[in-house]
Amino acid sequence: MTTVAPPPWLCLCLLLVVVVIQCVAGARELHEVAVPETVHFDTGGLSRESFPKGFVFGTAASAYQVEGMAHKEGRGPSIWDVFIRKPDGTGKVNWKGVEYYNRLIDYLLERGITPHANLNHYDLPLALELKYKGWLSRRVVKDFADYADFCFKTFGDRVKNWMTFNEPRVVAALGYDTGFFAPGRCSKAFGNCSAGNSATEPYIVAHNLILSHEAAAQRYREKYQEKQKGRIGIFLDFVWYEPLTRSKADNYAAQRARDFHVGWFIHPIIYGEYPRTMQDIVGKRLPKFTEEEVKMVKGSSDFVGINQYTTYYIYDPHRSKPKDLGYQQDWNAGFAYAKNGVPIGPRAYSDWLYNVPWGMYKALMYIKERYRNPTVILSENGMDDPGNATLARALHDTTRINYYKGYITQLKKAIDDGANVIGYSAWSLLDNFEWRLGYTSRFGIIYVDFHTLKRTPKMSAYWFKQLLARKKQ
Ligand code: GAL
Repeated sequence: MTTVAPPPWLCLCLLLVVVVIQCVAGARELHEVAVPETVHFDTGGLSRESFPKGFVFGTAASAYQVEGMAHKEGRGPSIWDVFIRKPDGTGKVNWKGVEYYNRLIDYLLERGITPHANLNHYDLPLALELKYKGWLSRRVVKDFADYADFCFKTFGDRVKNWMTFNEPRVVAALGYDTGFFAPGRCSKAFGNCSAGNSATEPYIVAHNLILSHEAAAQRYREKYQEKQKGRIGIFLDFVWYEPLTRSKADNYAAQRARDFHVGWFIHPIIYGEYPRTMQDIVGKRLPKFTEEEVKMVKGSSDFVGINQYTTYYIYDPHRSKPKDLGYQQDWNAGFAYAKNGVPIGPRAYSDWLYNVPWGMYKALMYIKERYRNPTVILSENGMDDPGNATLARALHDTTRINYYKGYITQLKKAIDDGANVIGYSAWSLLDNFEWRLGYTSRFGIIYVDFHTLKRTPKMSAYWFKQLLARKKQ
């Protein structure tokens, strides 16, 4: 076996999907009970038995959003630390961090919780951004594969479900087209960024992310999979895009939107190339996979994680070629959130998040039909409340329960109609740092007092607990 030099990654960005019922039980031990266990919740007739044998339920969280320790215990800075404030220092493997994950994994297993570990959730070691511009450089591919290799070697005896990236599309689009997310790059025409090129950089970054995913998956398959008997996949965000009208033009626009969104990543992974619409529209700005890469990228996931939160209407804006080129411009699609004056669904606290359960069904059936019915984990789904709500209001989260009930009902419908979904994970276990919104948005099923870090289960946590405990009615 070849040994791998310690990778230059500073923190291990593990996303842990854990069995909800266990988490709720764990949290309750630590803190007060918010809702009497005797309350009988409406689960819409759903129970654990409504789902196929072996189906896993969990909750998701990500390192940067929940761990803290920004300047402690040798944790090195990531690009998000600079994006939100100035950090100092650089680093190498943080052995205290490794110990922390060892303890966490062991603890989960002891409690009968299956860890699903994701290697990267938006954050990149700042050292690599400074060294060679991070995701923009092809050099990141080998460094990522080395980091992944280190994780497989160190944790793979106990972690059997691996993901390479969470939402690479968001990294490429928000980081390099609009500049909303770290590292905050875009063309002058699209935002107040100090540098960037929205016409080319999102595509270069996405290409390097796909190659990094593939390189990591290859390491796993060649060196570890047989012995460790695990699987490796990737998490993709997927907003469902519904044509605003039945016109041909709106249908094409919605299809373009799906291709530029989820197709950008899933198409290469299943078919070895970018969607044809993207190839035609982006032309020379779209990097090409070599013949060798096509072979490697195609089939590089044992399963796909789909993060599904919301749905928008899409129409053809009938506009001529834009003056300034950029990823979002390339879609040539208009967004609408209401039709004939009727909103697409009730809005959550985040302005992008509408509660549209039927979009879950359509998204899953689309993946099934267009992408050869791959094994899917519905890896993120949830809604947020305002961060400044009173404790009583935040705990009494009936809107969230209603959201989950609607979406999980549609998930079941998709499974019944043949979608190969093997697990569901709610976002999120805990209220956490919601990127640009900071602590002003709460996605957790467990309430966190951000001053004392005291945790209290919300009603939705009890709802999940009942859903999972209940026998078929
Ligand atoms: C996802 C993301 C999470 C979380 C969530 C809610 O797209 O992976 O980190 O922030 O959205 O906005």
